[in-house]
Amino acid sequence: MNRPTIRSVVRGTGSCLPARVVGNDEIAGKVETSDEWIAQRTGIRRRHIAGPDETTSTLGLAAARAALADAGLEAEDIDLIVVATATPDYTFPSVATQIQAGLGITRGVAFDVAAVCSGFVFALATAEKFIASGSHSRALVIGAETFSRILDWNDRTTCVLFGDGAGAVVIEAAEGTGTIADRGVLTSHLRSDGRHRTKLYVDGGPSTTGTAGHLRMEGREVFRHAVGMITDVIEDAFAATGLTADDVKWFVPHQANKRIIDASAEKLGIAPEKVVITVQDHGNTSAASIPLALDEARRDGRIRQGDLVLIEAMGGGFTWGSALIRW
Ligand code: UT7
Repeated sequence: MNRPTIRSVVRGTGSCLPARVVGNDEIAGKVETSDEWIAQRTGIRRRHIAGPDETTSTLGLAAARAALADAGLEAEDIDLIVVATATPDYTFPSVATQIQAGLGITRGVAFDVAAVCSGFVFALATAEKFIASGSHSRALVIGAETFSRILDWNDRTTCVLFGDGAGAVVIEAAEGTGTIADRGVLTSHLRSDGRHRTKLYVDGGPSTTGTAGHLRMEGREVFRHAVGMITDVIEDAFAATGLTADDVKWFVPHQANKRIIDASAEKLGIAPEKVVITVQDHGNTSAASIPLALDEARRDGRIRQGDLVLIEAMGGGFTWGSALIRW
């Protein structure tokens, strides 16, 4: 890691949440649950739920526009759009091409990646590799989801957990020295293991039922694997860079359950005040959770230029991954 390297430096962030906020009590009026159970077991207090006119692409487009404005860039400056989503508006075309059209971009390439809750880490790693190859120079990396549309609202074991939203980052090619002092994505690590595919899945799709289906999860089983997988892939990021938990300024994990976040941070030796937590307000927004949290922590002044930011996620597949970014 000590020769000139093309880095992907974060230029801006943006996000969009549906207007409607649904508190735990509202859900407790429909299925047998309580604010106390949801808050104690997950840390979730409320989530945003898309209205009839809000879709994954409309939320993603608004987040993309906000990220471009934050970066001080125009849509035509972008030559790569990678959208992480498990809840596209349509089976095809991709959400990425819908957002591309919404932004009025006619050059470059736009495509979706499917890694469910790990999607943003997979999308960022993908875009970073395009940029590192020299083929593209400025990317919008977006996580956008409307999980409310694939929930079984009669299943209390899943419907209390998820929310809708979108987050976006703009990354840009910049020459680095190839050392960990560089700004940009310093390392990324992606993993998957399809043996676990039935522990968290959707029971429909175009090639099986011909319907979108509903989310099904063996929550306890997912929980059992989560902390080990998350901490393993973060140890990979530390080993690749020589950085340690002490070097991390902000830990921005996927927001599925506060108990998983707390246990992961504790196992890694990351102090609680370094952990960005939004799950209480957003629920689990799958691929959108990390860019939503990044945008919040950047706009409220926590994440600043030069800070070392650690992201990680784990989700359906199973898929899991981590990245270290010098802001
Ligand atoms: O983003 C992708 C990754 N996904 C995750 O990381 C989710 C991982 N899993 C979890 O976060 C947790 O497993 C859950 C929050 C889903 C569940 O928490 P838990 O502590 O593992 O609870 P549990 O599934 O062991 O259920 C405990 C009890 C059960 O009752 P019994 O069998 O002990 O009588 C459930 O039926 O809680 C019951 N229960 C509920 N009670 C009230 C399950 N859901 C609810 C509910 N309200 N909504």
